[in-house]
Amino acid sequence: MANQKKNFLKVLNKEKPDHIPFWFMRQAGRYLPEYMKLRQKAGGFLDMAYNPSMAAEITMQPIRRFEMDAAIIFSDILVIPHALGQHLEFVQGEGPKLEPVRNNQDISKLNFDNFDNVLNPVYEALSKVRAGLKNEGYNNTALIGFCGAPWTVACYMVEGGGSKDFINTKRLAFSDPQSFSKLIDLLVESSAKYLINQVNAGAEALQIFDSWAGALDAQSFKKWVINPTKRIIDLVHEVHPDIPIIGFPRCAGANYISYVRETGVSAVGLDQAVDTSWAADRVQPLVPVQGNLDPICLLTGGDALKRAAEKIITDLSDGDFIFNLGHGIHKDTPPEHVEQLVKIIRENS
Ligand code: CP3
Repeated sequence: MANQKKNFLKVLNKEKPDHIPFWFMRQAGRYLPEYMKLRQKAGGFLDMAYNPSMAAEITMQPIRRFEMDAAIIFSDILVIPHALGQHLEFVQGEGPKLEPVRNNQDISKLNFDNFDNVLNPVYEALSKVRAGLKNEGYNNTALIGFCGAPWTVACYMVEGGGSKDFINTKRLAFSDPQSFSKLIDLLVESSAKYLINQVNAGAEALQIFDSWAGALDAQSFKKWVINPTKRIIDLVHEVHPDIPIIGFPRCAGANYISYVRETGVSAVGLDQAVDTSWAADRVQPLVPVQGNLDPICLLTGGDALKRAAEKIITDLSDGDFIFNLGHGIHKDTPPEHVEQLVKIIRENS
């Protein structure tokens, strides 16, 4: 029994699980009082993410409450630009702020000089969580490593933070595709290296977050989402051929199909805009799917939550399926609603 494959990994391998595995994007974080308590002591977000003991502890917090089938390492997609030498800070209540990279000259300054130094604490945190899961008896909980996809990370690097329309990023991609390619290539190389090291440190599956994949036209989607993602997956699989890689091209719409067919992802995360019966017919025959409850429905709770969760389970649980949200947990979500959702998933498994 102790050596039995974890349910989450079974589904990623297209095997039948004992129950429907679940985890939730952003499952560690501000909606949990135990996280807020640590954060008040720690200082900033990056101080926590780069402190292996603290990052490991925060990763374990939701597991102790809800026993998810997967833990995701507490870090951020923006540690890659940071490790490449771009200035990064998280301003309380405002999100990430980076020194923008706007042209070929800015891109040329990025480098690997400090790469391992910056990221070693993340690898150390992964090893600690892997040992912690075992020590605390969570033998059925797998450990997920992650990175941002090159397109999404480039959006933050070029805009210097969040954006609604990505004008600077798209303008660079349309007007100077050579320089933009150079940035994307650097992100492919660094992200593959980062993911490979995360597996070496104990990650049992990987997820590539492409939060802004839905912002691109079909040609650009192929160029800046599909191709770089495929290259990362090929590089990781050269070293770790069996590691499952989940892609999450958020809001990709009909492009979900070409993404799945062409990138080589082992599974795909669905955002809440994807119709689950469409996904059952068109996506699930190709790869296992993960998703896709609206995080605001989870925040709302009650009957609406029950109905929405059961509909997702009805539509998707005949095929290879991992329950998740369509995007990260909102910070104002009552933990009791997460408990309610976990109960619904377990009762319908
Ligand atoms: O899922 C998890 O529990 C693991 C941890 C995780 C974080 N960020 C921690 C975090 C993961 C997987 C991410 C991914 C991430 N980060 C994405 C992709 C997924 C998505 O949400 O679209 C993106 C775009 C980012 C960039 C980022 N990080 C933003 C825009 C922000 C500010 C907005 C916000 O929610 O505060 C962050 C900060 C951040 N990353 C926090 C956490 C827990 C909040 C830090 C805090 O204030 O305590």
